[in-house]
Amino acid sequence: MKYRRLGKTELNVSVIGIGTWQFGGEWGMQFNQGEVDAILDKGQECGINLVDTAECYGDHLSESFIGDYMSRRKREDWIIATKFGHHFHERFTRTDVFDAEDVLKQLDASLKALKTDYIDVYQFHSGPDKVFDNDQLWTMLDKQVQAGKIRHLGTSIGSNDNLHQTDASSLVNSKVIQVVYNRLDRVPEERVFPSCERQDLGVLARVPLASGFLSGKYKPGAQFDATDVRHRQDAEAVRRKLEEVERIRREEVPAGVDMAQWALAWCLKNPIVSSVIPGCKSPEQVASNASAADLVE
Ligand SMILES: NC(=O)c1ccc[n+]([C@@H]2O[C@H](COP(=O)([O-])OP(=O)(O)OC[C@H]3O[C@@H](n4cnc5c(N)ncnc54)[C@H](OP(=O)(O)O)[C@@H]3O)[C@@H](O)[C@H]2O)c1
Repeated sequence: MKYRRLGKTELNVSVIGIGTWQFGGEWGMQFNQGEVDAILDKGQECGINLVDTAECYGDHLSESFIGDYMSRRKREDWIIATKFGHHFHERFTRTDVFDAEDVLKQLDASLKALKTDYIDVYQFHSGPDKVFDNDQLWTMLDKQVQAGKIRHLGTSIGSNDNLHQTDASSLVNSKVIQVVYNRLDRVPEERVFPSCERQDLGVLARVPLASGFLSGKYKPGAQFDATDVRHRQDAEAVRRKLEEVERIRREEVPAGVDMAQWALAWCLKNPIVSSVIPGCKSPEQVASNASAADLVE
């Protein structure tokens, strides 16, 4: 494994992390604790120390699996990033709730689910600018940082060209930007990354496999089960993406190199990226993704 500094948090994160939206049950598979344990144990064996979760991957469900695991392992071995801003109701249904009073309750619910007394990176979860621009929210969060419940604040921007929230990071003491970045979507290179560089923000590249499409295992015309969030993407847009993936595989991926590993290493070629956080469904995927670090300079 290789490690990078997560911007001015000074945390030393593995360049490959583990995304855990999957544990919430919206990716065509329900997880049990044993499966989650196996994924996280494999991650640690491979040198991974970063896990990304959220309040609404299930109703704190993904956090609960991670918390149960952490309660039987060494919490301090891991950097846990989670998020706030939504109430989960049922699969694919949540509401935005970003007011300070409610977010404080969400924080306590996350700490309880994670069975921990601190969160390493607490991220504003892809909300609109009008709820981001709320001094009360950031003042409340700052108090939680002072109280030691949160080590660092971050912002997971919804649109990957959200310069407003990125530029405002230093004003609200947010030190990490989480953003969609992958070989099919390079938009953050234009405005968001330069702003991150100016402010010395850590960068977590999410959806680095373009929802799994950049693994190369899906062909144009691939269909997804109704319980898989990819079923909700526009079918024609998915077909176009998968055609582009075929072209990239032919023209850019060296022979004999696993395409998912190549796609993760592609993100990390950009030195502004601290870590990629591919979502994982099995220990085999974690091990393969971890090996992408070998392709990184
Ligand atoms: N707004 C936000 O803050 C936000 C939004 C989205 C995601 N996220 C975070 O970012 C993480 C990553 O994004 P994502 O999960 O949406 O997309 P992703 O990482 O691009 O794709 C994940 C999918 O890729 C497939 N995969 C993973 N490793 C593989 C391998 N080695 N070989 C082949 N296939 C592999 C798996 O699905 P299959 O095996 O079924 O194909 C997996 O479910 C999430 O888990 C979450 O933590 C945050």
